[in-house]
Amino acid sequence: ASAYEFFGAHQAGITTPVQDHLHFASFDMMARTDRDDLVSLLQDWTYAAARMTKGLDVSATGAVGGSPEAPPDDTGEAQGLAASGLTITFGFGPTLFENEEGDRYGIAAQRPAQLQKLPAFLGDDLDPAHSGGDLCIQACADDPQVAVHAIRNLSRIAFGRARLRWSQLGFGRTSRTTAAQSTPRNLFGFKDGTANILGTDDAALDESVWVAASDDPSWMAGGSYLVARKIAMLVETWDRVRLTEQEAIIGRDKGPGAPLSGGDEFTEPDFDAKAKDGTPAIPVTSHVRLAHPDLNGGIRILRRGYNFVDGNNELGRLDAGLFFLSYQRSPEQFVTLQRSLSTDAMNEYIRHVGSGIWAVPPGAAPGSYVGASLF
Ligand code: HEM
Repeated sequence: ASAYEFFGAHQAGITTPVQDHLHFASFDMMARTDRDDLVSLLQDWTYAAARMTKGLDVSATGAVGGSPEAPPDDTGEAQGLAASGLTITFGFGPTLFENEEGDRYGIAAQRPAQLQKLPAFLGDDLDPAHSGGDLCIQACADDPQVAVHAIRNLSRIAFGRARLRWSQLGFGRTSRTTAAQSTPRNLFGFKDGTANILGTDDAALDESVWVAASDDPSWMAGGSYLVARKIAMLVETWDRVRLTEQEAIIGRDKGPGAPLSGGDEFTEPDFDAKAKDGTPAIPVTSHVRLAHPDLNGGIRILRRGYNFVDGNNELGRLDAGLFFLSYQRSPEQFVTLQRSLSTDAMNEYIRHVGSGIWAVPPGAAPGSYVGASLF
């Protein structure tokens, strides 16, 4: 499919088959904005997003149909491009509910108890310029220009109400959400997304991704929690590591992506299997072992991250990594996994440099707007 429906029980862009490109943006509300400003912003964003996901301009007059004496409603760079599988997913950060200015929008009492700034993790090296934000928008599409057009126009529509805080481009999905998609590779060269929750696995989605009607608060039913982590990967250092060592760090082989306990890509890892020298075939410090549900009380998450390369530094090293995105029914799932990864052998080759968490409300009903259940 090249166009996904914007309206529905859940927001698009979570279980939707992962597209090839990402433009992710975090926004802060402007000072002295009130509840009406926030509601009108969400309504305007919904209107424009529903149009853009159909491959249309942001308004009926669009890029060239308005008055020649006025700046056009739409910036125009997506003219002639198809919808390209565009999805636009909105989220609310902890600071939207309450910040130094207090309860600006009269929603502090509705704040989900779990929606808190993530705790500090061992080895964090977070840059505030790539962290946090009152609101977020994840735009994914199979054409990078379509994703960028979406964020650019939504930023423009926010004028006077919210402004861009930070944003991130991503290419090369590092996960899959349907069995039909082949497993892509991250910048370490390993298949990524093998054991991901698939968008067709309703039981796993209900258990691990969607907030249930019985969960608190009720306005989040059908929504999810999004964690973003900008993870720098020290690729030049990694590229000097022996193949067998790289495989021991991940816990899978680099070709087919099979667990080191044997089989093929989709064989379940056997953590009791022993190597010839009697040590565990899947090392105790390997990423897959530490992240696996068996070692984490059954916890699973839906990963939807992207590779990034933001140029290079003065030493000629790529500023590269994984823009990790995960959706979960409760932020606690991510926190438990990330704590479990504190002994991950991969930590020597990565650095978490950005972080954010947002409550992603359920999808909007036709005629309504994203987040309406909160007001
Ligand atoms: C699995 C890479 C960060 C959670 C994997 C796999 C690879 C990988 C290659 C095996 C294939 C697969 O099942 O997808 C990476 C890289 C990271 C990173 C390169 C950082 C740059 C994280 C983080 C988390 C995480 C921050 C969560 C806190 C998982 C989970 C699995 C997994 C849950 C599946 C484990 C299983 O059920 O077998 N990752 N990962 N990863 N990773 Fe990561």
